[in-house]
Amino acid sequence: MADENLDVLVICGSLRKGSYNAALARSLPRFAPPAIKFRDAPPWGGFPLYNADVHNASGVPADVNALADAIRAADAIMFVSPEYNWSIPGGLKNAIDWMSRLKEQPFNGKPVAVQSAAPGLLGGSRMQYHLRQSLTALDVFWFGRPEVIVNLAAKKFDEKTLELTDQTTMDMIKLQLEAFEKFIRKVSGK
Ligand SMILES: Cc1cc2nc3c(=O)[nH]c(=O)nc-3n(C[C@H](O)[C@H](O)[C@H](O)COP(=O)(O)O)c2cc1C
Repeated sequence: MADENLDVLVICGSLRKGSYNAALARSLPRFAPPAIKFRDAPPWGGFPLYNADVHNASGVPADVNALADAIRAADAIMFVSPEYNWSIPGGLKNAIDWMSRLKEQPFNGKPVAVQSAAPGLLGGSRMQYHLRQSLTALDVFWFGRPEVIVNLAAKKFDEKTLELTDQTTMDMIKLQLEAFEKFIRKVSGK
């Protein structure tokens, strides 16, 4: 049914309180078509570093299972993340590595989109390409365009409230979310 609500899990790649990416993630409902309902992912910041010996000996930590269950239950996933050293932030990559080792691998067959923000000129775009590469290994359906890359982030969010203030960025987010809704419905048949 084309008007059925879509449950989209948001995974933010920054743990920082004043994070631009967390601010971008918080802005999503403002620009989304009415059928998209966003839900924050359970925290992944406390996951132990992936070690197969520990996994085999002690099993899967509860917080790892909580994230996996949230991903499995979602119709789609939206990543909103910075770029660290031209790539995926290590903590987020560790969380993805945990997901990849679980039975009923949670990302399998999920529609996934990404947004990024950074104070620099490239806006975290290199993270986006690396994330696409890693998640393609996990059999997601990757949403391509329109892209949301928020460069020069310090000029695009209110300094005090961290509210997004840049109209061009808002327009891009709207276009992306409209297209992502169509993509999710095409992939999921919902
Ligand atoms: C370890 C580390 C590596 C970084 N590497 C990059 C980088 O490769 N490219 C970039 O644009 N910004 C880089 N930055 C700057 C981040 O984009 C900036 O700190 C940004 O505000 C982080 O996102 P957040 O505000 O959501 O926490 C790096 C920051 C850290 C802490």
